[in-house]
Amino acid sequence: MDKLIITGGQPLRGEVRISGAKNAALPILAATLLADGPVTISNIPHLRDVTTTMELLGRMGVELVVDERMRIKVNSASIRKFFAPYELVKTMRASILVLGPLLARYGRAVVSLPGGCAIGSRPVDLHIQGLAKMGADIRVEGGYIHARAKRLRGARLFLDTVTVTGTENLMMAATLADGTTVIENAAREPEVVDLAQCLVAMGARLTGAGTDVIEIEGVASLSGAQYEVLPDRIESATYLVAAAITGGCVRVKCTRPSLLEAVLEKLIEAGAVLDIGDDWIELDMRGQRPHAVAVCTSPFPAFPTDMQAQFTALNATAEGVGIITETVFENRFMHVDELRRMGADITVKGNTAIINGIEKLTAAPVMATDLRASASLVLAGLVAEGDTVVDRIYHIDRGYQCIEEKLRQLGARIQRIPG
Ligand code: EPZ
Repeated sequence: MDKLIITGGQPLRGEVRISGAKNAALPILAATLLADGPVTISNIPHLRDVTTTMELLGRMGVELVVDERMRIKVNSASIRKFFAPYELVKTMRASILVLGPLLARYGRAVVSLPGGCAIGSRPVDLHIQGLAKMGADIRVEGGYIHARAKRLRGARLFLDTVTVTGTENLMMAATLADGTTVIENAAREPEVVDLAQCLVAMGARLTGAGTDVIEIEGVASLSGAQYEVLPDRIESATYLVAAAITGGCVRVKCTRPSLLEAVLEKLIEAGAVLDIGDDWIELDMRGQRPHAVAVCTSPFPAFPTDMQAQFTALNATAEGVGIITETVFENRFMHVDELRRMGADITVKGNTAIINGIEKLTAAPVMATDLRASASLVLAGLVAEGDTVVDRIYHIDRGYQCIEEKLRQLGARIQRIPG
């Protein structure tokens, strides 16, 4: 397994270009199953999860071509299988996103249950309940979801828990249903809005994306389209934290500041000086050590759970006591044990981590357990004294395009050791 070796102590300086958002690219790729014609998607990040999704669609018989401008042209006309196997789904839970489109367009789907995950049990009961309410004959057997529907019917769906991919799956299913669907307590994440805009470009009749009530009037068919994926707000915020934790000055380009208000607020509280343009954000710590902050994760527009691990690392070397409360997932502190190996003084009580910031972390061999945990270990390595070795970095390759190249551009001393 590949490892990353990071020699800490270098304040990061310079500019970095942000890639397209993983969590928008994945549902948008799934949405191509709904279209009668080819869909061309640009600004797709080059990530393991994207490759996995392309593999999944390819095995169904969907045609995918990457053109000279790195755009992906997807044509589902040649589809011949409606099956998502466990061997792929177990590597990427977002594979569940093919369920709604397959049912809506082809009336059938056999999709492996995603199974467990490091950060929580992450059930898909709300996806299944919603599709059943839309008239699908859906049952779980042998670790697979078996679903059939002559034609889905519009329904009023109330989601007990705010679920991003649950909202996305049901929104996609509703585009071709007979009648109108209203999704209440819908997720408001920008990636949900990006998917909705892509569906509208394909001819869907959809309003309310970005609010907690989304209304979809089913149509007979959707056409091909061209669509550009929005920038990755979590990648943007991760590089801003990299600047903050090392006391440097970094500009993230090709991003969308309006998607990051809750995070930017906390970075200012931590002592960062921000300069913000239309599609860039510059963070300058002026060589100062960050102040500890209190963070509580919650669905958008509140502070994102996908930035929790990174702020845990920031608080580990900040001045003062930081408090991190995780309300979205039940087990998203896997990075804490690894940060403790680097000297971090963290106490976890239930869903809250109390972090007593120390001047210097010490390099150590550490192990990535999930995507954002691995990002927090890289951030800690950037500021720790000595050479930190982060193992199992296949986790990080799922969500950060060319992370060592981008960090090296900012002056980090980091290299990948093929394993
Ligand atoms: C999406 O996961 C993201 N992944 C996650 O990003 C992100 O952390 C999460 O939303 C929350 O923002 C993608 O978009 C591909 P949820 P998702 O359904 O949709 C419970 C990353 O690091 N729930 O919004 O799987 C669930 O257990 C990844 O990029 C049910 O109970 O998350 C959790 O407690 C990690 N039943 C809460 O809802 C369901 O049917 C939120 O989960 C569905 C969810």
